[in-house]
Amino acid sequence: MRRRGGLAQVGHPETRATPGGRKPEPRRRLTILPVATMLTARLSRPLLQLPGKTWSFSGRENEMRHTLLSSTSSVPVACRTYAADTVSPVGSKAVLVTGCDSGFGFSLAKHLHSKGFLVFAGCLLKDKGDDGVKELDSLKSDRLRTIQLNVCKSEDVEKAVETVRSSLQDPEKGMWGLVNNAGISTFGEVEFTSMDTYKEVAEVNLWGTVRMTKSCLPLIRRAKGRVVNISSMLGRMANPARSPYCITKFGVEAFSDCLRYEMHPLGVKVSVVEPGNYIAATSLYSPERIQAIANRMWDELPEVVRRDYGRKYFDEKISKMENYCNSGSTDTSPVIDAVTHALTATTPYTRYHPMDYYWWLRMQIMTHLPGAVSDRIYIH
Ligand SMILES: NC(=O)c1ccc[n+]([C@@H]2O[C@H](COP(=O)([O-])OP(=O)(O)OC[C@H]3O[C@@H](n4cnc5c(N)ncnc54)[C@H](OP(=O)(O)O)[C@@H]3O)[C@@H](O)[C@H]2O)c1
Repeated sequence: MRRRGGLAQVGHPETRATPGGRKPEPRRRLTILPVATMLTARLSRPLLQLPGKTWSFSGRENEMRHTLLSSTSSVPVACRTYAADTVSPVGSKAVLVTGCDSGFGFSLAKHLHSKGFLVFAGCLLKDKGDDGVKELDSLKSDRLRTIQLNVCKSEDVEKAVETVRSSLQDPEKGMWGLVNNAGISTFGEVEFTSMDTYKEVAEVNLWGTVRMTKSCLPLIRRAKGRVVNISSMLGRMANPARSPYCITKFGVEAFSDCLRYEMHPLGVKVSVVEPGNYIAATSLYSPERIQAIANRMWDELPEVVRRDYGRKYFDEKISKMENYCNSGSTDTSPVIDAVTHALTATTPYTRYHPMDYYWWLRMQIMTHLPGAVSDRIYIH
């Protein structure tokens, strides 16, 4: 058995002084690690067999102590509902959502519009006549306007903010909300990932979020409005072969926390939404995209890495990723509800966790237990 830090401190053969000067007795060994590991694994396994229904776990960071493992709670943790207290009519309020060509962003634009918001839907491919854009435009509503927006391009961002500002009835009253949703994802072990790939993902997910937020803050501050950042469960816990994505989402979390602290005295509320696995419901990955990433990755591998790992190992990793991408919830409503709550509740939560039982429990264990324990349960 391996012994590492935290709970893995399995008692050294220390001695303790005994009264009367008798010979010291060896201290009894603590065997916390095996017990804790066994217990947690036993508790978590039955949950894996539960039907794959997605529940939304939410809460202000320190209030979210549900009792997933507790037998005392008669209300399943999943039944927790959002507080109904909402801000005054949303009708006049403007919200800008990025990445609306597909996935969460597309659904959000439609949902927020149906709630009465004035929605500015940023679309990467508006100028290319993307299907998502066409569908949003086909609603022909004054309250749903698609705008060309690549979050990596400062000119696009400035133009988008100007479009919003000039559409507001009273720009001095500002804009209510910004939802930083645009994102891309990739995978690959650290040794398989090129520096260009790391930078490419960060440019959209992290710097895109920072760029958008900085440009919108003057308007949001005036309205004492909301910033909602779409992070991921992988912004809270890392995973092998996901470093290019994880580091950007951990960055989004850090950025959001700093911003929340700074904005608090100014009345702006900042929330983070951390979806679990919804791959099956959005366009983040497709089999073709995985294959394209894999081919490019293999072609660009340094010779020494290619030789040391070999094609078989590489292919196994790719097929693992393909399996992961065939999984996930197809119902995005927990994510849409979380964002809506963050925009409309008088007291929005700091973090929202729309994810299924398995990932929620895994996130709790990975973020609250020592690495020595969580690594053994989920990684090794
Ligand atoms: N799906 C999941 O399981 C999951 C889980 C956790 C977190 N998330 C996060 O949720 C957010 C939305 O992703 P999704 O799952 O809905 O995937 P998606 O369907 O691919 O949506 C992402 C959107 O962002 C757009 N986009 C990409 N690069 C952009 C750029 N430079 N500027 C502006 N827009 C850009 C995409 O446009 P194109 O379609 O034209 O490329 C797409 O419309 C992302 O931040 C993602 O990391 C997703």
